[in-house]
Amino acid sequence: GCCAAIIVAAGRGKRMGADKNKVLLPLAGKPIIWWTLQGFVNHPAHFQPILLVTSREDIAYMQGLVEGNGWAERIRVVEGGEERMDSVQQGLKALGEKACKWVAVHDGARPLFTPALLTRCIQKVAACRSAVVAVPVKDTIKKVSADGKVIETPERSGMYAVQTPQVFAVKDLLHAYDHLKESRSRGYRGIPTDDAMVMEMAGYPVYLVEGEYENVKLTTPEDMVLAEAIIKRRQKQSDA
Ligand code: CTP
Ligand code: MG
Repeated sequence: GCCAAIIVAAGRGKRMGADKNKVLLPLAGKPIIWWTLQGFVNHPAHFQPILLVTSREDIAYMQGLVEGNGWAERIRVVEGGEERMDSVQQGLKALGEKACKWVAVHDGARPLFTPALLTRCIQKVAACRSAVVAVPVKDTIKKVSADGKVIETPERSGMYAVQTPQVFAVKDLLHAYDHLKESRSRGYRGIPTDDAMVMEMAGYPVYLVEGEYENVKLTTPEDMVLAEAIIKRRQKQSDA
């Protein structure tokens, strides 16, 4: 069935240390967010609508980028919120309930996913009603107390690092965010770090789908070096 996309790009990029929203930084000659958007626009599954959520100060720039690339029919620019989860909710509100059956939520700062990854997500969500991209962790993970003392070491096998896209039924994700709102009104003060967690808190089953180690979230300056190298390698491969 039909799948919408919410691409969140309303952060400040503090850890990147640039003087602007990191998704506007150049990567192999184009802004990071350009790479992300073209991956969705050009995918054969025809994501529709594509909502680009950004901060108030970047709306004009994003609108210009969308129009300048001939994407105005496909991409709508929406204002985001304080936290990532607020930006996702702004996207959901703009989408409305009568839109598509499915919605893929994706970080604007993850430009390196392949078309094959989006295809796997679409297939998985059709089969299991949720699809959350994840890769097995390579490092051993430790749970640590505030003073730096190790509390426990969960067995590495069976531990996954989750990425985006995360794809759900629009109806389920709307309901899960309503559930979160209720929890907050009853005193829950946590900030869920991904949409899957919001779904889990509302009792929905969440299924993983095989991700890609190259699908990194560009977070700190060294990630930019890696991303440039990955794009250069792909360009060389497609020239050959
Ligand atoms: N994001 C968003 N709205 C927010 C915060 C984050 O749409 N209020 C988006 C970011 O633009 C990014 C994605 O969520 O594409 C993942 O967040 P993160 O990597 O943490 O980006 P930033 O919040 O911008 O970076 P930092 O945490 O270093 O400030
Ligand atoms: Mg952040």
